Amino acid sequence: MVGLRELDGKSILVTGGTGSFGTAFVRYALERYRLSRLVIYSRDEQKQFDMAQRPEFQNRPELRFFIGDVRDKDRLRMSMRGIDYVVHAAAMKHVPIAEYNPFECIQTNIMGAENVVKAAIAADVKKVVALSTDKACNPINLYGASKLASDKIFIAANNLSGGSGPRFAVVRYGNVVGSRGSVVPFFQRLIKKGTDHLPITDPRMTRFWITLPHGVDFVLSSLRMMRGGEIFVPKIPSMRVTDLATLLAPDLPHRVVGIRPGEKLHEMMISQDDGRHSVELSDRYVICPMFNFWQSDAYEIEGGKPVPEGFAYASDTNDEWLDAAQMRALLDAYPSEG
Ligand SMILES: NC(=O)c1ccc[n+]([C@@H]2O[C@H](COP(=O)([O-])OP(=O)(O)OC[C@H]3O[C@@H](n4cnc5c(N)ncnc54)[C@H](OP(=O)(O)O)[C@@H]3O)[C@@H](O)[C@H]2O)c1
Repeated sequence: MVGLRELDGKSILVTGGTGSFGTAFVRYALERYRLSRLVIYSRDEQKQFDMAQRPEFQNRPELRFFIGDVRDKDRLRMSMRGIDYVVHAAAMKHVPIAEYNPFECIQTNIMGAENVVKAAIAADVKKVVALSTDKACNPINLYGASKLASDKIFIAANNLSGGSGPRFAVVRYGNVVGSRGSVVPFFQRLIKKGTDHLPITDPRMTRFWITLPHGVDFVLSSLRMMRGGEIFVPKIPSMRVTDLATLLAPDLPHRVVGIRPGEKLHEMMISQDDGRHSVELSDRYVICPMFNFWQSDAYEIEGGKPVPEGFAYASDTNDEWLDAAQMRALLDAYPSEG
């Protein structure tokens, strides 16, 4: 966890601050740190209004709501004045919607990333962490490809910022328990409507799972340890989608409906090619940059181990698995947002 002293008195801006991650991040940061300013940057005034009404966000003078689009570089630049750290969470994240509206996805996820980089350099912020997804590793859909392009933009941004400018890094993780639009609320809605079966795309399908508090904590610890140019990947468990369906509705049969366009059987966070420049720490992997931003064995000097030859981090070959009881405990602790 980022030490209290490190963030006390600092100003943070969160793009996408009204989303699932953003709201959890803001709640966590307000609880733990005495920030100078915490700026939420997003487009929809209603989401900001609703968030501001929540009891935990009232009487917090450090909290600021800034309406803006990541496609608008002037607005971003203005919002980052006096900001120390940026967490970039704004994105289009639905695979089918990105396939249907490719220009929109590119504008938000790729051009938005470029705008965040340029604004951060212009405003001379200290560090930027951008959120990525397992779908960015060997992508097969536009959402994943756009996030891979975004990852590349943030890593290469360290080439632009010079000796004293901002440092940029990426955090990549998998499905979030309880986040909007995931398979859990989808199954729960069908069950509530009285469905007589649950649709399963493929009985072999597996996914990585992380909770929002773990994601927030991981972003903060990555913000603390980053040198610039890393992709930080948490060690998190996998679960078979059929096991999840059985857990949610033990008596309902499954009907195999076939894998959907743009969907993978298993997700991957580190490909074999990325493995060649990755190190393992106790709680995470670090994909180190291919640019010489810093001494290439810096993480090894601090106790990190290079991953073995041929290593890949994928949801089907993961060492760590969630059983039904563990997932039930997570679903009870972090109910779905819808
Ligand atoms: N949820 C997951 O399972 C998951 C897994 C891995 C990685 N991630 C990544 O984590 C990040 C956050 O995801 P999330 O689940 O919190 O998403 P979310 O709940 O859909 O929230 C997205 C946020 O981004 C804002 N936004 C969208 N387009 C914007 C734009 N053009 N300009 C400014 N703000 C914009 C939205 O507010 P407005 O619409 O009001 O602008 C909202 O605040 C994303 O980068 C996503 O790729 C998510």
